[in-house]
Amino acid sequence: SQAIRLAPSLLSADFARLGEEVRAIEAAGADLVHFDVMDNHYVPNLTVGPLVCEAIRPHTTIPIDVHLMVEPVDALVPLFAKAGAAIISFHPEASRHVDRTLGMIRELGCKAGLAFNPATPLALLEHVLDKVDLVLLMSVNPGFGGQKFIPGTLAKLRQARTLIDAHVAAGGQPIWLQVDGGVNAQNIGTIRAAGADTFVAGNAVFGAPDADRGYHTILRRLRA
Ligand code: DX5
Ligand code: ZN
Repeated sequence: SQAIRLAPSLLSADFARLGEEVRAIEAAGADLVHFDVMDNHYVPNLTVGPLVCEAIRPHTTIPIDVHLMVEPVDALVPLFAKAGAAIISFHPEASRHVDRTLGMIRELGCKAGLAFNPATPLALLEHVLDKVDLVLLMSVNPGFGGQKFIPGTLAKLRQARTLIDAHVAAGGQPIWLQVDGGVNAQNIGTIRAAGADTFVAGNAVFGAPDADRGYHTILRRLRA
């Protein structure tokens, strides 16, 4: 079976020790660092911006996967590209011109991701498949860590997997299929079987009971 990518979400990390946390997940074998940006407008919560992204950049060599839960999107894209983001994802509802925003992210040298809320249909995806490097399916409503996985995401994952496979079979570029919200060691196998290849996990990594002993065991459990 295909190897999966694990993207621990810093949302559940110790924000007073972010540099150490990032080094620790890299040492434990994380593939990406998931960086959640919330603006108290698109979502009812407030986190961190490009300054903090830039501050953690020197602490790791793995790609920083920026998940923008902000509206509007465009003005922040160059700031995160400059701050060292490798991937920048945004929600289509938060951009007036989705195609333009995707193009802008790629022009700045980043991979472009499009994020779908649980109730957002995948319909517009077919129109921008050529411009997308990652499809992010939210399996909780965005805004908070530690929520419960919404089971309806599984059908949507299968739908996205079918679209992506057809696109690649027709000669299109590869597209990662990421799931974000409520992923844990118990449900990751089912989520993977539905077609996801990239997994965000916040609470399951940083909130695990044995987290203070490091993240090796936790990530190994998620990969099993
Ligand atoms: C939620 C964020 C997620 C969050 C996931 O809005 O986009 O990345 O950190 O956290 P868990 O894994 O705890 O659901
Ligand atoms: Zn996220």
